Amino acid sequence: MKKLLIANWKMELNEAETLDLVLNYKKRLKKITQVEIAFAPSCVYLKEVKNLLGRTHLQLAAQNVAAQAKGKYTGEISAAQIKELGCSYVIVGHSERRIKMNETDDMVNRKINQCYHNDLIPILCIGETLEEKNSGRSDSAIVRQLQAAISKVDGLPENELVIAYEPVWAVGTGQFLEAENIFAFHRTIKRTVSSLYSEKFYNDKVRLLYGGSINSIIAKDYWVSEVLDGILVGGASLDIEEMYNVALEGE
Ligand code: PGA
Repeated sequence: MKKLLIANWKMELNEAETLDLVLNYKKRLKKITQVEIAFAPSCVYLKEVKNLLGRTHLQLAAQNVAAQAKGKYTGEISAAQIKELGCSYVIVGHSERRIKMNETDDMVNRKINQCYHNDLIPILCIGETLEEKNSGRSDSAIVRQLQAAISKVDGLPENELVIAYEPVWAVGTGQFLEAENIFAFHRTIKRTVSSLYSEKFYNDKVRLLYGGSINSIIAKDYWVSEVLDGILVGGASLDIEEMYNVALEGE
């Protein structure tokens, strides 16, 4: 499996800005062939972005998905609808949704199930809060989130899973967990996933990303980490040169 770079544009851009960014990325990222790249624009622009991407190797990701398959859920967007729009991936359980939108572990689990029912690869976000970190509960927070999210999932272990380890205190703050400190978290994540499924599943089907205040200056340390398979970028992915340089470091 290729290394993966996800660009999460959150709710930062209007239509013109989104399309402009995509057109520029199409040109700028032509030389990037070794890293798989997926853009996660606001859902209202998914179709337009898909049309612009055309037959390039650039992929599309949704930022969220409904926990339910279909029905009377005003304002929600189903996994089937997201699939129709041309997405390959869906970000599930991002800390901004867990904290600001009260998304629970149970909802995250149901969303993951919806992804697999619709042939979408979930990018499961996990990570400890500052409070959990300061009270020595980082590991237990991650184990809890992982167990809740991927236990009793129909599509596993047959399908791929992307796990984005994003310490909440590092997302959008300018602070980050140094690459050399990822090893302990990798051990916890691998052990937990392997005990739920198997070590073979982890080795063959799981890609582990790091996210949280990544920029082009520090990206290389994460790309070369033997326990990581990619990076999830938020703020830096809104800047073409920054994103290009982050991708280039992974080539
Ligand atoms: P950031 O966002 O790179 O701006 O910290 C990461 C994310 O979206 O999770």
